[in-house]
Amino acid sequence: MSRTNCADPHIKNLWHPIGAIAEAGSNVVKSTVLLAEKLSFKVFPDETVKVWYSDVSKTAPQEESDLVKSQCAYGYIWVCLGDDPIELFLVPEYQEPDRRNLNAATMGVHVSAPRAVENFLDMGHFPFVHTDILGVEPHTEVKDYDVEITADTDEIIATKCRFYQPMAAATATSGADVEYIYRVPHPYCSVLYKSSPGYDDRLDVIALFLQPVDEERVRAHMMLSLLDNTNEDKMIRLFQQTIFGQDKPILENQNPKRLPLDPRAEVPIRADKTAIAYRRWLREKGITYGVIVAEELV
Ligand SMILES: [Fe+2]
Repeated sequence: MSRTNCADPHIKNLWHPIGAIAEAGSNVVKSTVLLAEKLSFKVFPDETVKVWYSDVSKTAPQEESDLVKSQCAYGYIWVCLGDDPIELFLVPEYQEPDRRNLNAATMGVHVSAPRAVENFLDMGHFPFVHTDILGVEPHTEVKDYDVEITADTDEIIATKCRFYQPMAAATATSGADVEYIYRVPHPYCSVLYKSSPGYDDRLDVIALFLQPVDEERVRAHMMLSLLDNTNEDKMIRLFQQTIFGQDKPILENQNPKRLPLDPRAEVPIRADKTAIAYRRWLREKGITYGVIVAEELV
């Protein structure tokens, strides 16, 4: 029986990430917070995991009802605090044997999960926030692209996104027009596919998995599944952490911290096509956690 105070049924029944398996240690109790609930977890040597509500005891679950549903996927521990878990989305590329899969960073950010997703989807900020890496002036135009909601998996997908980038990846040696595909398969997760230097027909995967600590705070887990057999993990992590470090102050300055869902709340521009689809998609799902629902703004 679920005992979370989260009143949003959709968010409560989703799987949420709480930590990278590789960083959890073996047989070590770790603590974290999800949807304002204190949790502890332990990864065993066989990579199975146990997660429990830790308001009573941090060190071990005291009774069966302390236990929380958990699973391991994409290098992270995922938990569901609701009674009717919604199946976790698929990232099939993660299983390809020649990919480098790693957690590039886990970073605490004082912002709501939907604000962080929306920033991740926005190509327009590249030349101004990630200057000389993911964008550079005068290449500021966001060219038109396609956005749709897939009928079978009910996720947002943006395709034919192209942007000029001076240094698109740790492996890049020069500037290039980079192709992006964005997926939003979960209200608090986005998966980005981008051209991989050296490959014409395969894409690098960069995923942002947000752990909602509460309505206005996240731990952002950045998963990479790369076609890169050149750079050391350290270099790859440094590249992504540099980019994320540039986003963090921008995110923390967002006001309000929760995402307004009223279509009139913030004036949309063409570059925001995915953001508009994302807000509408959240509205249609009836999401209330981490957002400001339309009625509150009237
Ligand atoms: Fe950014």
